[in-house]
Amino acid sequence: MSLSPTSPPFKPITISLFLLFLQSSYSYANAALPIIPINNTTCQTTCGTIPVKYPFGTGYGCGHPAFSPYISCNRGTLLFSTRTGAYTISSIDYPSNTIMVNDPFMSNCSSMQNSGSFGIDGGSPFSLGKENIFVLLGCSTTSPVFDPKEDLCDTGSGTRVCRGLYSCKGVNDIGLPQHAPINTCCVYDYESNAGLGLDLPKLQCSSYASVYEFVDQGDPMKWKFGISLVYNDSYGSDDCRNCEDSGGLCGFQSLDKSFACICRNGVNTTTNCFGRGYAWSGTIALKVQTMLPIIGGIMLSLILSPF
Ligand SMILES: *[C@@H]1O[C@H](CO)[C@@H](O)[C@H](O)[C@H]1NC(C)=O
Ligand SMILES: *[C@@H]1O[C@H](CO)[C@@H](O)[C@H](O)[C@H]1NC(C)=O
Ligand SMILES: *[C@@H]1O[C@H](CO)[C@@H](O)[C@H](O)[C@H]1NC(C)=O
Ligand SMILES: *[C@@H]1O[C@H](CO)[C@@H](O)[C@H](O)[C@H]1NC(C)=O
Ligand SMILES: *[C@@H]1O[C@H](CO)[C@@H](O)[C@H](O)[C@H]1NC(C)=O
Repeated sequence: MSLSPTSPPFKPITISLFLLFLQSSYSYANAALPIIPINNTTCQTTCGTIPVKYPFGTGYGCGHPAFSPYISCNRGTLLFSTRTGAYTISSIDYPSNTIMVNDPFMSNCSSMQNSGSFGIDGGSPFSLGKENIFVLLGCSTTSPVFDPKEDLCDTGSGTRVCRGLYSCKGVNDIGLPQHAPINTCCVYDYESNAGLGLDLPKLQCSSYASVYEFVDQGDPMKWKFGISLVYNDSYGSDDCRNCEDSGGLCGFQSLDKSFACICRNGVNTTTNCFGRGYAWSGTIALKVQTMLPIIGGIMLSLILSPF
């Protein structure tokens, strides 16, 4: 079928093009939906300022069920929960499968305090990042970490890290004088010893710090404190990609934990959001936007052309 304005028959073309135009305007309006926040569903795309993507979810039924027990969004704060407590997630780096968490009771150079334990639950999809350096502070000199037979502390370069932290004013907060002897400090080799975490009461230490980056070796005020965790990234599925492509968020059914695709209007399906309204996608919007002037131009030329 030729679209040339001079080729007969004119009327069916005009009508069908007009219908096409209406349809396009309609899907264009739908395509504009991403700017409208989803208020009505439990699954959100952000928590506070942190983008929350699969396999993470902001509530029960969102994301992958293996992550759901550990991740939640509480009034704009994304939390990582384990048997030892709930920790604030300060960032998620999706390409490297890394999350950064902050323990509110952890010490840093400016502020030291008695800490609780930190542990990751066995069988969870999380493990400690290799860049973390755990430093045990204010330990009893009879602590098992100083058992010469066990070799639990790094006594090489670790002594510099201990000296650095004990030079901080913050050590006063845990009852030590600045530049105290470092025989109560231990750079803990968690990988071979703790595996999944630290049990401070058992280790007889009052506090700990986790350094993940030494920006300036000589200035502990500039060190970056936090705990980096790596998560298992093998939870992607074709079902989820299909759902996301239709503008949905991947989640699961509460009863049997089977896959669910949660659409923008709060409806959840076992497949995707196409044809269920409230599907949107940047590519659809782009296509329609570029099509509109073309269709408009054709219609204009049809109207203006002598019949
Ligand atoms: C979503 O929330 C905004 C502001 O809180 C409100 O204006 C809008 O009507 C709500 N939409 C729905 C579908 O409840
Ligand atoms: C929003 O939730 C209320 C009750 O929670 C429900 O009655 C309403 O249909 C929902 N709206 C949409 C657009 O899903
Ligand atoms: C999916 O839909 C069912 C039934 O409408 C509802 O009980 C369930 O809470 C929904 N799940 C999510 C994650 O919205
Ligand atoms: C140091 O720890 C305190 C108490 O947890 C916290 O408020 C502060 O933001 C931390 N500072 C840095 C630089 O991490
Ligand atoms: C990652 O998760 C998959 C699926 O649950 C599992 O088979 C695999 O062993 C896990 N990998 C690691 C390194 O834990």
